[in-house]
Amino acid sequence: MTGVQGSTVQGRFISFEGIDGAGKSSHLEHAVAWLRARGHDVVQTREPGGTVLAERLRELVLHEPMDVLTEVLLVFAARRDHLLRQIEPALAAGRTVVCDRFTDASFAYQGAGRGADAAVLAQLELWVQQGRQPDLTLWFDLPPDEAAARRTAVRAPDRFERQDESFFERVREAYAERARLAPARFRRLEARGSREQVRQRMQEHLLATGWW
Ligand code: TYD
Repeated sequence: MTGVQGSTVQGRFISFEGIDGAGKSSHLEHAVAWLRARGHDVVQTREPGGTVLAERLRELVLHEPMDVLTEVLLVFAARRDHLLRQIEPALAAGRTVVCDRFTDASFAYQGAGRGADAAVLAQLELWVQQGRQPDLTLWFDLPPDEAAARRTAVRAPDRFERQDESFFERVREAYAERARLAPARFRRLEARGSREQVRQRMQEHLLATGWW
C-alpha cells in the first residue's frame, strides 16, 4: 500500500484465535490464499514462533513441562522477537500480517487455563508490545466437546491439547472476556457447521472491515 507522496501506509495485522480443534489453522490458510488472490502482499506467521529464535522457544513451550510463570516468560520472549524481527518490519512496509494466535492466547491458555496472574500478563503485554495490537482478531468459537472430537480425529496431541474439557472451558471463557474488552478488534465466528459455511462467515467478516 502506498499513500500520498510515496509514503508507505502501515499494513494490517490480523490474528486468528480459538481453542485447539476449532479449525482456525485451516481457515487461516484459506484466508491467506483469498487475500493473496485479491492482490495483497501477505506475511503468514504464527505464535509462539515466526522467527528462528521464537520457533525454538515454541518447541520448549509445547513439549517441555514447566512452571506457568516460566511458560509466560517464554511465550512473551518469543513474541518480542517475532514483533521486532518479523511483524513490525512487515507492517511498516505496508504488508498484511496474518498470525495464527497472538497475545489473546496467552491470556486464555496461560492465564485462564493454567492460572497465570492476569496483572502480570497485562504488564508483559504493555512492555513487549508497546501498544501494538492486531487490527482484527477472528475468534473461531466452538464448544470444547466438539473441538475435542475434531482434534482426536486428526493428530497426536501436544502438551496443551492433552488438557481436559474444563481447561478448554476456561480458555473459551477467556476468549469471550477478551472479546468483551476489545469489541472493535474482536469478531466471534461461529465455528460449528461445515468447513464451507465457516469459510463463508470468515470472508464476510474480512469484507466487512472495508480494508480489502
Ligand atoms: P496451535 O495454533 O494449536 O498450533 P498447531 O495447530 O500447529 O498445533 O498453537 C499451539 C499451542 O500454543 C496451542 O495449544 C496454544 C498454545 N499457546 C499458548 O499456550 N500461549 C500463547 O501465547 C500462544 C500464542 C499459544
